[in-house]
Amino acid sequence: MAVLHGTSRRIHNTRFGQAIKMKQPIWTLVVLVSFLTGTMFAQKDSVSAGLALTPPMGFNTWNRFGCNVSDELVRTMADAMVKSGMKDAGYQYIVIDDCWQVSRNANGNIVADPQRFPSGIKALADYVHSQGLKFGIYSDAGSKTCAGRPGGRGHEFQDGLQYAVWGVDYLKYDWCNTTTQDAQASYALIREALDASGRPIVLSICEWGTAKPWLWGKGVGGNLWRTTGDVTDKWEAQVKWPDGSCCAFGVLGILDAQVGLESYAGPGHWNDPDMLEVGNGGMSTTEYRSHFSLWAILAAPLIAGNDLRNMTPEIHDILTNKEVIAVDQDPLGREGRRVWKDRDLEIWAKQLQDGSRAAVLLNRGSSEQKIPLKWEQIGYPGHLSATVRDLWAHKDLGTCTVEFSAVVAPHGVVMVTVRP
Ligand code: GLA
Repeated sequence: MAVLHGTSRRIHNTRFGQAIKMKQPIWTLVVLVSFLTGTMFAQKDSVSAGLALTPPMGFNTWNRFGCNVSDELVRTMADAMVKSGMKDAGYQYIVIDDCWQVSRNANGNIVADPQRFPSGIKALADYVHSQGLKFGIYSDAGSKTCAGRPGGRGHEFQDGLQYAVWGVDYLKYDWCNTTTQDAQASYALIREALDASGRPIVLSICEWGTAKPWLWGKGVGGNLWRTTGDVTDKWEAQVKWPDGSCCAFGVLGILDAQVGLESYAGPGHWNDPDMLEVGNGGMSTTEYRSHFSLWAILAAPLIAGNDLRNMTPEIHDILTNKEVIAVDQDPLGREGRRVWKDRDLEIWAKQLQDGSRAAVLLNRGSSEQKIPLKWEQIGYPGHLSATVRDLWAHKDLGTCTVEFSAVVAPHGVVMVTVRP
């Protein structure tokens, strides 16, 4: 921090000095105004401005590997991201979650597990970068991470500099062991520390929605914030933690918690309904297709959590469906919302930059159902004629007015775009 603050103060002093030397009132005024506006918009011009203009896409170790992280795992996952075509489909960040760190040294610097990361974190980040990908890491706002490793509290600026030296592009910052800490202040502090390092680093706020981070996440410079507790690899479940506290949620529980949050998301700042479980084995292919479609309509970060080195063709085709990914990554940055619900049947819709709509017709129930999508539900007058395209069948379904309907499999979706 000292370095950066020193530099910026020097620049301001120089500008001000020039103004005084010129002794020309009009120039003095111009320079003074530019100095003041520079100060006023300093936040906007910070190194992290312009990050995550579309929801971040990548891979994170936690959902599949937990604490079993290593240099080899991360390198082979970066290779797999390239080889599988996921990089071409838009995935970018390779993020090591909890358990890479073991202690702090005498200077308070964070120490990576020397057995699991024998070449150190910088060499690993360099490797990930050499594959044309970006590198992410994990820490915690409290004294310890959720797995009991050293947290960031009291070391924010030191860690920020360390991450920058290592070449970190993305930090997931958790919320365990924070006792009486204020969430907003804690995340503002780590954002300040990351920016002070001079390196643009995406900040992923992992506060589980407890203090409603959608209300302040953007203001403190967060690029995404978890809206709920952890996802679990189930269609419908509430799994208590070992200490009896509540809960990890299945896809439907997480989905329900997103209702009403859509207005808080936009380019650079996203609601995060947690990482993907697609391919981890606890759901059917149909359910994984629904999970992925729903996350895309929510403009959610698409952070794969499965073993990219061993994917079945079905899982590969879900994660790399470019038409569905395009809905998630649409540059307008609108989050989709639930526009209709009738017991087990729901319609979620999202406005796209070209004025068209994407829609997910969701059947939560256990028998096949026909779902009608009415133009009025997605903001179009009924007489409008619009073409409908099925994003999973990769097929144009023709032109309709008033409505379109589809038969939807149990726990399945039909995902379409409607283009006037
Ligand atoms: C919390 C987070 C998870 C994961 C673990 C790691 O539960 O919500 O996403 O990072 O901690 O310990």
